[in-house]
Amino acid sequence: MNLKDLYIDFFVSKGHRQIPSAPVVPENDPSVLFNTAGMQPLIPYLMGEPHPYGTRLCDYQKCIRTNDLDNIGDTYHHTFFEMLGNWSLGDYFKKEAITWSYEFLTDVLKIPVDRLAVTVFAGNDILPEDTEAYNIWLSLGIKKERIAKTSSDNFWIAGETGPCGPDTEMFYFRSDDPIPEVFDPSDERWVEIWNDVFMQYYKHEDSSITELPKKNVDTGMGVERTVAILEGVNDNYQSSIWKPIINLISEIASLPYEGNEKSMRIIADHIRTAVFISADPAGIKPSNTDQGYILRRLIRRAIRHAKKLNIDINSDWEQQIAMKIMEQYEKYYSEIKENRSVVLDVLKNEKVKFNRTLEKGLKEFEKLTVDITDGKINKDLAFKLYDTYGFPIELTIELAKEKNLEVDIVGFDEKFKAHQALSRAGSEQKFKGGLAGDSIVETKYHTATHLLNAALKKVLGPSVHQKGSNITVERMRFDFPCDHKMTEEEKNEVEALVNKWIKEAIPVVKLEMRKEEALKSGAECMFIERYPDIVTVYQIGDVSKELCGGPHVSNTSELGHFKIKKEEASSAGIRRIKAVLE
Ligand code: ALA
Repeated sequence: MNLKDLYIDFFVSKGHRQIPSAPVVPENDPSVLFNTAGMQPLIPYLMGEPHPYGTRLCDYQKCIRTNDLDNIGDTYHHTFFEMLGNWSLGDYFKKEAITWSYEFLTDVLKIPVDRLAVTVFAGNDILPEDTEAYNIWLSLGIKKERIAKTSSDNFWIAGETGPCGPDTEMFYFRSDDPIPEVFDPSDERWVEIWNDVFMQYYKHEDSSITELPKKNVDTGMGVERTVAILEGVNDNYQSSIWKPIINLISEIASLPYEGNEKSMRIIADHIRTAVFISADPAGIKPSNTDQGYILRRLIRRAIRHAKKLNIDINSDWEQQIAMKIMEQYEKYYSEIKENRSVVLDVLKNEKVKFNRTLEKGLKEFEKLTVDITDGKINKDLAFKLYDTYGFPIELTIELAKEKNLEVDIVGFDEKFKAHQALSRAGSEQKFKGGLAGDSIVETKYHTATHLLNAALKKVLGPSVHQKGSNITVERMRFDFPCDHKMTEEEKNEVEALVNKWIKEAIPVVKLEMRKEEALKSGAECMFIERYPDIVTVYQIGDVSKELCGGPHVSNTSELGHFKIKKEEASSAGIRRIKAVLE
């Protein structure tokens, strides 16, 4: 049976509910391009929001990490991977989490205890040693020689700030050598396979750490690595996940895997990730900015390596590979099934586009590099190759390496960023003229309506609520109960509050939860009976929380300047405000 199925079945048998994998492009987090860990879509719930599926969850989550494309081509780095996870949201804690991890590894996966070792948190200046985790492992039968204590490696956080906590990591001895009695985490024959994080803290921007409202468990197990281990292969690309894809590439190229590993791995890895990005509901297409640029780079680098293997680029090689990949995943991810033709079109169109300039670009590269005397491709040449011939920077770097040349990557990055800022401004300009622009303006007014509602409550009292609202591209209109004409001071105060919140650049977070839970948590709503059981709530820091279908901007800073244009009677006891964003 498949590892994913085994994992889900096991945790469902322990009272967990399976949640679907979130899209690879985060829906409400513009600060990251892609989901990088299983816990990422669960952050609001780890921070205390009730989850509609309860307090014990499990899933397999699609993750993408593209910060180090250079590593792709070795035996175990992948730009896309799946992460298995089980979560307790204020439910069970260390004892159950560790016991179930142990049970799954030894009973279900049948890993001999002798091949396992673990690390636990040794404590630091702020937090004590995790003796509880240590003792639980001992009680389960892990020898003390196989439990290492570390400080820095056993505290997990996704980035600089956010939910975090001490963790315990599980390692497998992946070698035919005799297994050492004493576990040394720096010995590379021990590979990490699973991480149980005891997420009970929140790290703030000033590095201070406070307790979260609940003690949570967040775990993560990499599918690719674990499958390779279980199948006893040292190269992930030789496991059953990759083998069919590698075999197909080898067949298309009429070349063996041995001796051509790097290019074949890059093609397999990059096309797989391109499949998942282009199948995502976000509708990403290759472009020169953000996720679209990552997609473009992945496809172009795969094409370049296909060329290195002498694959006929004009044949349908990439379609065949993508189809093989989709065959493997469509059972698990509905978007792969639904967007099959979208994916195939994206790959083909990008190939055709790149192909038009690739040959010329390669020739130009040969010509221009002949004259280089200082061993360096300067920023202007790197940028020209990008701008005129569509060479992503890593392609230039790779070609340069083959000629023992360096590339001024920092200089290129500067030019590239300036260029990106220009093209973003250009596309925003385009939007403003058309229909899409209208909806962007309206989205802003939706969010401003929530802020106005909250400001009125603060200034006029808690009895204020939305009686009616209407939004056009020109203005917003808001009706609310109030027994008097607002004074100038009151209006000024409301305006000032809304503008202060806009200045504070507060993230607008979309949450999903059960209707009753939303109401219990104090979310505001107009007609509760009209909403389905699972509702969407938009939260703007501690300023506002309302049931609402959206859409909303992702941060209040996008709104500009708020101004009340008119305050008048709408009907008996109901006032009406018309306001604009300038
Ligand atoms: N969030 C933890 C990790 O990614 C489980 O390792």
